[in-house]
Amino acid sequence: MFNLEIIGSGVATLKNKYTNNDFKKFVDTSDEWIYSRTGIKTRYFTEDENTSDIGYIAALKAIEDANIDKNEIDLIIVATMTPDNFTPSCACLIQAKLGLNNKKIMAFDVNAACSGFVYALEIASNMLENYKCALVIGSEVLSKIIDFTDRNTCVLFGDGAGAIVVKKSLFDKKMLFYSNCIGDLQGKLIAENINKNGNFTYLKMDGKEVFKFAVNAMEKSINYILEKLNIKLDDIDLIIPHQANIRIIEYVCKKLNVSIDKFYMNIAEFGNTSAASIPIALNNAIKEEKIKENSKIILVGFGGGFTYGSCYIEF
Ligand code: ACO
Repeated sequence: MFNLEIIGSGVATLKNKYTNNDFKKFVDTSDEWIYSRTGIKTRYFTEDENTSDIGYIAALKAIEDANIDKNEIDLIIVATMTPDNFTPSCACLIQAKLGLNNKKIMAFDVNAACSGFVYALEIASNMLENYKCALVIGSEVLSKIIDFTDRNTCVLFGDGAGAIVVKKSLFDKKMLFYSNCIGDLQGKLIAENINKNGNFTYLKMDGKEVFKFAVNAMEKSINYILEKLNIKLDDIDLIIPHQANIRIIEYVCKKLNVSIDKFYMNIAEFGNTSAASIPIALNNAIKEEKIKENSKIILVGFGGGFTYGSCYIEF
């Protein structure tokens, strides 16, 4: 259990909005098929910006929202599975873009696919024993690894970035984490950057297998927090799940016997933005005042790897 506080959050606003009908230009699909199976209506794609560019925008907004001097930041962690480069990391690029090169800072990326933000937040929380102020960012330009001729995958994803600033709390604000992983050698959800032949391969997914994994991972991650804290779902004000598919969330609601209103969702607008989905949803929920002073929430992520995990936060 950590005594920590999220003091600011921000999201990069992308202009390039694609509706489901826009995909008819690329593949044989329909708004009805996509919306009824996923809950997605639109998603955003960057034009020329890369992952560190939109991560930087989200970071700037989070710093502004936190109302701190950017020089207070001494730790930058970026969760992404679509970094600009193998090296330098997006975290190092964002440090430079923020003009913090002369500061003593630790900066690095974490790749845990769609669970990346929850993983990164747990890492930051542990490190805040020795660091003062962490910038934790989820940023993805998934359009770099999407095959726009594959209707099974291209309609599901979007680009995006969200960021938060986290510090040790002067008040009694608790955070608790659960992280787990089931290594998959069968490529059920895989995007090879460059394979041994030097060829690039796009993201591929066995949708039904991912669905089965996701519902179990979500249930287990939420239940871990409830059991560890000896609380019930009624004690939680809001659950912010990774925004992959509304049917995954509906299925989990049935398993947990809880109303879907307990879950925050913005998948209809953003699609699945992988590691960016939870910080974008968190920011939107705060701005919409669905999270207020003293709210108790759970973040829950699941993704390629397979990775999964959750985070309990007191506001
Ligand atoms: N438009 C029209 N038809 C399509 C499309 C599309 N965009 N995509 C697939 N189809 C077709 C397939 O070709 C197939 O046709 P066929 O039967 O003639 O071969 C048919 O639709 C498959 O339909 P369903 O079996 O009904 O598809 P399903 O209900 O499994 O839905 C989906 C697919 C949405 C991917 C589902 O498996 C799912 O939700 N999986 C969870 C995975 C997920 O959400 N992943 C997100 C990324 S992973 C992550 O974030 C962790």
